[in-house]
Amino acid sequence: MFDLTGRTALVTGAGQNIGAGIARALAGAGARVLVNDLRADRAGEVAAEIGGEAEALPFDVTDRAAVLAAVEAAGALDVLVNNAGNGGAEAMLPKRFADTEPAEWAGPVEVNLQGVLFCCHAVLPGMVERGHGRIITISSAAGTHGVGIGFAPYSVGKGGSLSLMRSLALEHGRDGITANSVALGIMDSVREETAAALRKSIPVGRLGSPADVGAACLWLASDEASWVTGQTIGLNGGAFTS
Ligand SMILES: NC(=O)c1ccc[n+]([C@@H]2O[C@H](COP(=O)([O-])OP(=O)(O)OC[C@H]3O[C@@H](n4cnc5c(N)ncnc54)[C@H](O)[C@@H]3O)[C@@H](O)[C@H]2O)c1
Repeated sequence: MFDLTGRTALVTGAGQNIGAGIARALAGAGARVLVNDLRADRAGEVAAEIGGEAEALPFDVTDRAAVLAAVEAAGALDVLVNNAGNGGAEAMLPKRFADTEPAEWAGPVEVNLQGVLFCCHAVLPGMVERGHGRIITISSAAGTHGVGIGFAPYSVGKGGSLSLMRSLALEHGRDGITANSVALGIMDSVREETAAALRKSIPVGRLGSPADVGAACLWLASDEASWVTGQTIGLNGGAFTS
């Protein structure tokens, strides 16, 4: 079950933490994984650690020309995981929306939404032509439920990208393409002081790990998940029920 032999997967922002966990899980099931990151050094390290057919493919997901060039260079892509975003180890500074300036909204929206639009738009024609594709977007409870800790522009990006998955699922259901989101709760890459305060509020009693996310993405990328599309899967230790 969950054999990705012969499939090629592009995982964005996979140079560390959650994206690296997703890349490892897909490669572990036999996929050839293209490890993207804005930082070429990070992408190279993760690709080298995975070994085998894994390759670094560094580019900025918010740069449309770079996305198009990278997708063309990659060749046939079966799986796209839109993981690049901010809200993890390199989180934005929390600030109440009313206290922000418009210039502060662009960054979170660009990487969490615009980058997802660019990557999906670049891979879809090839997936349609081949009659097969899996698109998975890493969203957040900030996008599904909202969080009152000063991340409103990030929530906008995460909510917009999961909304895009729903539309793509409807538009491409007959093309053999599925589009789903994984909405994460609090992960173990957050700062320890934040983790300590939040751990108690998670029913299963621990933070999420890159391996947790990798396992969910492996399922969604598999042939066995062909009837799962347009969904937002909550991965949060029970902190947010749906
Ligand atoms: N950590 C959490 O608690 C948490 C919770 C909910 C959702 N998420 C989401 O999970 C995903 C991964 O989170 P993480 O904690 O591993 O983040 P992280 O910041 O540790 O890693 C993200 C990686 O993406 C890369 N990146 C950033 N901008 C990029 C761009 N424009 N193009 C290509 N690569 C880029 C970074 O260089 C970095 O290596 C993100 O989408 C994040 O929003 C995280």
